[in-house]
Amino acid sequence: MNPLLNVYSLPKLVDEKELRDGTVVVIDVLRASTTIVTALAAGAREVVPCQEIDQARAAAAEFAPDDVLLAGERHALPIDGFDLGNSPDDFTPETVHGCSIVFTTTNGTWALARCRLAQRVLLGSFVNASAVLDRLVGVEQIHLLCAGTDGQMSYDDVLCAGLLVERLRQRAEIPYKLNAEAITAGETWRHAFALPITLGAEPLRPERLAAKLRESLGGQNLIDAGLDHDILTAAQLDRFDLVPEMDPATMWITAGKR
Ligand code: MLT
Repeated sequence: MNPLLNVYSLPKLVDEKELRDGTVVVIDVLRASTTIVTALAAGAREVVPCQEIDQARAAAAEFAPDDVLLAGERHALPIDGFDLGNSPDDFTPETVHGCSIVFTTTNGTWALARCRLAQRVLLGSFVNASAVLDRLVGVEQIHLLCAGTDGQMSYDDVLCAGLLVERLRQRAEIPYKLNAEAITAGETWRHAFALPITLGAEPLRPERLAAKLRESLGGQNLIDAGLDHDILTAAQLDRFDLVPEMDPATMWITAGKR
């Protein structure tokens, strides 16, 4: 049987029961996925996603005060009283090493909540694209779930899903059965970057990818908030060889094992 490769450009476009037997990759390029990869690469112990601000404050209160940081955004900006916003560059080893991070964002943490029934939940973005691909080789049911922005599809997430679709198809021994959105995402990537790009080998310049990400709804919101530098950070293809994995039972996210 052909393995399945589905893309959903928004969480609401998939019934959570359809994710039950599959491996889901949650993609929120600008910025939740990128930030979570960066935080774990910097030595954060785990990331605890929460949908609401009050829920995040309550979850943080369960930890010893020195062991936890509250992080996240609303309207792209840091939340009053939180330790960190959602700018990946702020999650340095000096700040987060050894800490648990309780995290709430507008779209990304909601997309994660959609995956409670999935067999396996990984987090993907451009900064860890090749590492994600390595984890997906041989997987029979793959769902690439884009977080979108404020309930609308966001081009940054679709581009990243498209990159993964294209590379998975190139590696596949048995062709994937794609849903319509997977075909569209793959074509979107090919259209944006017409020259062949080999992950890990081809120097896709961050500036070139960032220029595309700026066109997205998420990119526009960050520019309006004065956070353009986060777009360039999110465009550092393959900066990390780490794939965050969420335990669907507890929803805690740790640096997954190979
Ligand atoms: C989110 O999860 O809502 C986003 O990452 C939005 C943002 O960082 O501004």
